[in-house]
Amino acid sequence: MNKKISLTGIKPTGTPHIGNYLGAIKPALELATQYDARYFIADYHALNSIRDPQELKNNVYEVAATWLACGLDPDKAIIYRQSSVPETFELSTMLMAFTAKGLMNRAHSYKANVAENEKKGKDPDFALNMGLYTYPVLMAADILLFDTDIVPVGKDQKQHIEMAVDIAQVFNHNYKGDFIKIPEPSIGEDVQTIIGMDGRKMSKSYNNTIPMFLNSKKLKKTIMKIKTNSQAIEEAKDPEKCTVFSLYSLFTSEEKQEALKQRYVSGGMGWGDAKQELYEAMEEIIAPKREIYNELMEDKQKIDIILDKGAEKARNIASKKIKDLRKVIGID
Ligand code: ADP
Ligand code: TRP
Repeated sequence: MNKKISLTGIKPTGTPHIGNYLGAIKPALELATQYDARYFIADYHALNSIRDPQELKNNVYEVAATWLACGLDPDKAIIYRQSSVPETFELSTMLMAFTAKGLMNRAHSYKANVAENEKKGKDPDFALNMGLYTYPVLMAADILLFDTDIVPVGKDQKQHIEMAVDIAQVFNHNYKGDFIKIPEPSIGEDVQTIIGMDGRKMSKSYNNTIPMFLNSKKLKKTIMKIKTNSQAIEEAKDPEKCTVFSLYSLFTSEEKQEALKQRYVSGGMGWGDAKQELYEAMEEIIAPKREIYNELMEDKQKIDIILDKGAEKARNIASKKIKDLRKVIGID
């Protein structure tokens, strides 16, 4: 029996950080053992915010190299650039005709932008482009083109998947058949929100990230800058309320966590010591991945070859689907 299909898109909007790795990359890669897994770099989605061509290009390489370094096996899973599969954009145009404008008006990210403008006393549509407004349609096309069964995403993307389902159902209902497979989101409920340098959620938008592949010297320097309280060395410390400990527990076994916890509660351990422990734990996990990452970033042609091969496989699937759908709608 054919395996079910999982598919997820990654926006190349910046250098991947520890939050992306633990919250999205690692859980999505784990699905590859169970599913026929597809991963794509959503470069046309990134165009809504990244307008510097060199930056966009570089982000795509960084994201691809990160996924490969973290264990994506291009012989087992497909990885490709969204822009290499033009069928995506044809399907997106097709789906536009089946997407209620009201549905787009209800999209959280669009609404958040409008609310932000209104708060600042600006025109509600100030600086909003149609790419952002129709984002859910393009995302639906990304998913529906590949007969996707499940879409691993963070909670924030749930509404987008529901919209893809809605659009697919309108299409199927109109043509009276199951022409488009209805996908389901796969939201890792146990995936924690990774805390950043300042104690808030780690996010590019807060400028509080630990980039995944800093060299070991910079990684150490960054870890040493994590915000802690001003307790003195001899004081007992609370591991539950500590960014250093929360990061430490993501990279270590329970035994190691227990050992560090003891040092916290018994006092006599300074923040520098705790940070050193964290650095060593992170370095152990990251160093082998970093080596692969650096090798790939020095040989971008290698990345291009992998992405081009993936695109060929993806287009093979996509072109058949588009051909079928063209027949369904009466354009063939
Ligand atoms: P950022 O907030 O840094 O811009 P993105 O929005 O590009 O990150 O997130 C890409 C993926 O990484 C999403 O699936 C998101 O859920 C996940 N992710 C980002 N930050 C975190 C975090 N701090 N904890 C857990 N997951 C995260
Ligand atoms: N919107 C997703 C994000 O911001 C990225 C994305 C684009 C995506 N197309 C997709 C995710 C299709 C899953 C499936 O993270």
